[in-house]
Amino acid sequence: MKVTRATFDEVMVPNYNPAKMVPVKGEGSRVWDQEGVEYIDFAGGIAVNCLGHCHPAMVKALTEQGNKLWHLSNVFTNEPAIRLAKKLTEATFADRVYFANSGAEANEAALKLARRWALDKFGAEKNEIIAFTKGFHGRTFFTVTVGGQPAYSDGFGPKPGAVEHVDYNDLAALEAKMSDKTCAVMMEPLQGEGGVISPDAEFVKGVRELCDKYNALLVFDEVQTGFGRTGSLYAYQQTGVTPDILASAKSLGGGFPIGAMLTTAEIAEHLKPGTHGSTYGGNPLACAVAEAVFDVVHTDEVLNGVKHREELFKGKLAEINERYNIFKDIRGQGCLIGAELTDAYAGKARDFLNAGADEGVMVLVAGPNVIRFTPSLIIPEADVNEGLARFEKAIAKLVG
Ligand SMILES: Cc1ncc(COP(=O)(O)O)c(C=O)c1O
Repeated sequence: MKVTRATFDEVMVPNYNPAKMVPVKGEGSRVWDQEGVEYIDFAGGIAVNCLGHCHPAMVKALTEQGNKLWHLSNVFTNEPAIRLAKKLTEATFADRVYFANSGAEANEAALKLARRWALDKFGAEKNEIIAFTKGFHGRTFFTVTVGGQPAYSDGFGPKPGAVEHVDYNDLAALEAKMSDKTCAVMMEPLQGEGGVISPDAEFVKGVRELCDKYNALLVFDEVQTGFGRTGSLYAYQQTGVTPDILASAKSLGGGFPIGAMLTTAEIAEHLKPGTHGSTYGGNPLACAVAEAVFDVVHTDEVLNGVKHREELFKGKLAEINERYNIFKDIRGQGCLIGAELTDAYAGKARDFLNAGADEGVMVLVAGPNVIRFTPSLIIPEADVNEGLARFEKAIAKLVG
């Protein structure tokens, strides 16, 4: 059956408006569409394809597991899930893992756990969740409400209550909102969708101190920053601050849908049998692939390589900027880079994305003013150079 982008409009719910071309094949950091046109992929499926497309270790894990056992439900456990959880707990602060299928589900579990922990330990009054404007935590109704962009949560009827927001990096505002009723503070250790915004080091430490002062849990949403993206397995490991609960997804599966919530043994105790669950969470195929991703990513070679690629991207973008003067800031950490457009191009980030696609390079935006690059953590230097050369051509056409 021949299908095209036009077929999409005939059969799909219109909540997405994908690009005109339809990709059919990927290898490493290159992708080809139905017409055979090649693209360099700096988007990586929105910070998902951390080892590029069709990495041999992932294909091997998927095919081997695919010939053994696909699915069981959580009435039974399985070896890949237990092995992956063991590796995650050995590599982080966490003692316990809950598997889900997406970032939103990992965050949903985190929020429900925080509420249940507070109820069990302090009573029903302690239920307030504080999060940050411009934060993004997923699209389930709870997580999208906790996310700091009301445009995404408005228009669906009454929202889950006891959710408050303050500005990111504004410790005084957070302090003013916190009380003994606060059960958790949820934050990204670097805001991705909101515009690639880093927290001040003192801010992160201050949030931890306030959580300790008010007996509130600190939840780090590392769905985008996690699994090597910023140059350590998780971004918290570079902050000097340890969260109580951490949500992981995206790069965790490298393209296979999986999410995970990590926490301590003491907090995990509050999700007793039957309190929460998922049919597919901990699926053997997903966990086998994620284990293969872990084995590649959790090495000095790959994590140091991420830092090298950060320098490469920032350096080349700065050179482009000398010629075109279109960015007022180039920022981010590791393979999560944002280039904020000058006021002259405010609101035009998507035009740059489209112009890039026309020249054979896939980039992302993070809000209306920021172009975002979230390539594979192992993208070859030659592909970085070629992709940015194509992007510069797109810029030249767009700005003249
Ligand atoms: C920080 C963060 N949290 C949560 C999510 C939601 O993840 P998912 O789309 O897998 O539900 C995203 C997705 O962009 C994200 O960037």
